[in-house]
Amino acid sequence: MDTGTPEDSNRSANPSIHEVSDPARRMLLRLGTGAAAAALYGPWVAGCATGEPQPRLGFAGVPTSNADTVVVPPGYVAQVIAPWGEPVGVAGAMPTWRPDASNTAAEQAVQLGMHHDGLHYFPLDGARRGLLVMNHEYVDEGLLFTDGQAGWNAAKVAKAQAAHGIAVVEVERAPEGWRLVRPSPFARRFTAASPFAVGGPAAGHALMRTEADPAGTRILGTLNNCAAGMTPWGTYLSGEENWAGYFDGGPALTADQRRWGLRAAGWARWGDHDERFDTTRHPNEFHRFGWIVEVDPMDPASTPVKRTALGRAAHEGAWVAVTKAGRAVVYSGEDAAFEYIYKFVSRDRVAPGAQGLTKAKANATLLDHGTLYVARFDADGTGQWLPLVHGQGPLTAANGFADQGEVVVKTRQAADLLGATKMDRPEWLAIEPGGTTVYCTLTNNSGRGALGKPGVDAANPRAMNTMGHIIRWTEANDFDATRFRWNHLLLAGDPANPRAEAQGTIRGDAFGSPDGLAFDPRGLLWIQTDASSSTLGQGDYANLGNNQMLACDVASGEVRRFLTGPVGCEITGAAFTPDATTMFVNVQHPGETPRGRSDPADPTRYSRWPDGAQATRPRSATLAIRRRDGGPVGS
Ligand code: FEO
Ligand code: CA
Ligand code: CA
Ligand code: CA
Repeated sequence: MDTGTPEDSNRSANPSIHEVSDPARRMLLRLGTGAAAAALYGPWVAGCATGEPQPRLGFAGVPTSNADTVVVPPGYVAQVIAPWGEPVGVAGAMPTWRPDASNTAAEQAVQLGMHHDGLHYFPLDGARRGLLVMNHEYVDEGLLFTDGQAGWNAAKVAKAQAAHGIAVVEVERAPEGWRLVRPSPFARRFTAASPFAVGGPAAGHALMRTEADPAGTRILGTLNNCAAGMTPWGTYLSGEENWAGYFDGGPALTADQRRWGLRAAGWARWGDHDERFDTTRHPNEFHRFGWIVEVDPMDPASTPVKRTALGRAAHEGAWVAVTKAGRAVVYSGEDAAFEYIYKFVSRDRVAPGAQGLTKAKANATLLDHGTLYVARFDADGTGQWLPLVHGQGPLTAANGFADQGEVVVKTRQAADLLGATKMDRPEWLAIEPGGTTVYCTLTNNSGRGALGKPGVDAANPRAMNTMGHIIRWTEANDFDATRFRWNHLLLAGDPANPRAEAQGTIRGDAFGSPDGLAFDPRGLLWIQTDASSSTLGQGDYANLGNNQMLACDVASGEVRRFLTGPVGCEITGAAFTPDATTMFVNVQHPGETPRGRSDPADPTRYSRWPDGAQATRPRSATLAIRRRDGGPVGS
């Protein structure tokens, strides 16, 4: 989800931040200094130095586009499956989507939700049949209801809640392409009202107890689910991102609530009709969101779990690596300006499955015990993981942390005290196959360097960072190391931009606001953009067209545009069949206007994707992308 509007406003507030003091110094910081950088990043530096792109990008790049359609390279086909409102396939409960948006809340609760985001493919039969699990980040009330927000009432709040969350659908490859399998015993929806269990140090904590849940162990709902990752034991991880905006804080906010971005009235207006979201009545409900949730899609009877040991944040998502010794390391970031990058190292080793016990069940509590760290990126190209452990350093009762449960509920404040590096909105992370290098998109932060805001640093080197960048680090030894070396894969931008600071360092096709990021099974890095609707087509984004998807050969650094989306959308979520012959991608919020809503009265921005001229409203949907010759996508 893009929440860039407040930051965008900083642009005009401080025109002096156009000026960057010393571009040469920035470049040095970005690349790291001489021998040290060459030693650590030898292949990267060498690859860039030769100037010759490696032959791994095997498709013809596509130009930027302003068209209300999806464009992919010659020789590829992008098929629309699973749009908002299609029934997921629960037996006996498959209500047809009504194009006038008159489906009820109960119907929406068994249909695909709105605003598709991260997704993952779990094979049932290799590349022929599997489960797609996907996030539904938020809703556009103007599309969700026949009459928009008019007459806001409890039924509308219930339908909005039902259009959030996570969906599990079964898909299969038929001769004519991919299709939903319905009914399916695996089909499920988790909404903003579904029960979740709680694991880790905040389970049952006093800060998590509410009138409705005095034990603090059972939470209704997941919210603003953004990016997705999967675990090596076959479960799905989803990040609760901008959950604070669903709560109404009332007139007297505490310091803690302000640190978490609570406002007097939330954007969703749920507190008007669901008192859970009124923090003046239920203050602890606010602590019960902001977690990574784990879903076992292969067990339709399972209850998903909020994993509190991984910290509370405006979590974009979570991605898992395994150390040589078999411990799970979970990387996550917080997509908010000047927030942090985290990792969690499990205490125990990943367990193999056993007879009668799936690997998912064998690791059902693995993510509940371990050590949480936050990243500090130093100017010399090294960095450190700082432990967020109660009793260590400043994380003591005297400083407001009674125990580890309070440390994780107040992860932001704990990271503040440790002096972690405030980043330019960390979005997706991706772990490079065959090493210990991790990449992270920093989507943009136009407030960097603005009056009263942090200035540039080595890791976030541009003031008024409208275009974003991609940082990467290599752990010193293994994924559980506490030290690392880092540099930038690229600074995003447009070389044709007259503003030098927005030109970037991309070798290849221009883009800005990187968000989705994923390595495919063959090692290509896929980058997806989410330039906000208020920036698309203007200012630094004047030449960049609609949001897009690109592939990067990280060995050479070459970037090539693979896909452009319809008007007003963002492109997000990348999942692959094991043989990489199908790539699943989500198109979120086609037709979104600068006001954050789709508006048929704004015909230059309105989208009729994917249903075409007869469409009553645009719909988020999943794309299944294949090469016509059946080969691996992108290569
Ligand atoms: Fe939901 Fe940070 O994008
Ligand atoms: Ca968006
Ligand atoms: Ca985004
Ligand atoms: Ca995102």
